[in-house]
Amino acid sequence: MTPFGGFAAYFSLIFDVRMLSGKNKMQTQNQRPFSLITGASRGIGEAFAFTCAQRGRNLLLVAFPDGRLEEVQRELLAAFSVTILIFPIDLTLADAVDRLFRYCQEKKLTFDLLINNAGLGAGGLFENIPIEKYLQIMDLNNKAMVSLCHRFLPLLQAQERAYLLNMSSMEATLPLPYKAVYTGSKNFVYAFSLALREEQKKDLFPSPSSAPGRS
Ligand SMILES: NC(=O)c1ccc[n+]([C@@H]2O[C@H](COP(=O)([O-])OP(=O)(O)OC[C@H]3O[C@@H](n4cnc5c(N)ncnc54)[C@H](OP(=O)(O)O)[C@@H]3O)[C@@H](O)[C@H]2O)c1
Repeated sequence: MTPFGGFAAYFSLIFDVRMLSGKNKMQTQNQRPFSLITGASRGIGEAFAFTCAQRGRNLLLVAFPDGRLEEVQRELLAAFSVTILIFPIDLTLADAVDRLFRYCQEKKLTFDLLINNAGLGAGGLFENIPIEKYLQIMDLNNKAMVSLCHRFLPLLQAQERAYLLNMSSMEATLPLPYKAVYTGSKNFVYAFSLALREEQKKDLFPSPSSAPGRS
């Protein structure tokens, strides 16, 4: 399967669930499970949010607190009859995932979809980029992603069906000069997700990590 094949399969699986699940029709809007999407304030994450809302999914959207997330929330609420919650936070903060999880517990939210999309990169000669930037990339692309999987997996497993998508990149499998740390971080996402999928095969149905090329 090509990376884009995996991408498409992910969406068709979502579609199948909604078509087949009679249980959803009996639930009020807020009782329905949420989709948690990180990096949803722009780019691919915003597109995920739009597509999920269009399919009637309740959303909890996360992104860096810079105001753009509120705008996305307003746009989606104006267009679709779903619940859109937002949680602006810097996911590289040590306690960010714990704070997000506590918020979800307080609100008694359930989840059947987690999209770990937030990601960061930097291009240039390796030694010319400050180490702080590289640590930030690894904190977001790897540490936050693993923490989110670890925290939210039990909630996903509590559902009859649930899905997990970790955003990798076609660059994950290329030795890409001048993007060594980004490439390495996305290689981690890819390998981690494949291994996790094997572990979870019986209970959960995660898609392969998505590995888009340039968009
Ligand atoms: N675009 C491509 O060509 C491409 C190709 C392959 C893979 N990917 C991967 O796909 C994903 C999305 O890419 P994109 O191009 O759509 O990204 P993007 O437009 O740069 O958006 C990144 C998103 O992540 C959020 N974010 C950044 N730092 C954060 C932090 N510290 N805490 C919380 N949220 C943070 C941003 O929030 P703010 O807007 O508030 O800063 C934004 O919502 C990434 O993982 C990327 O590596 C992209």
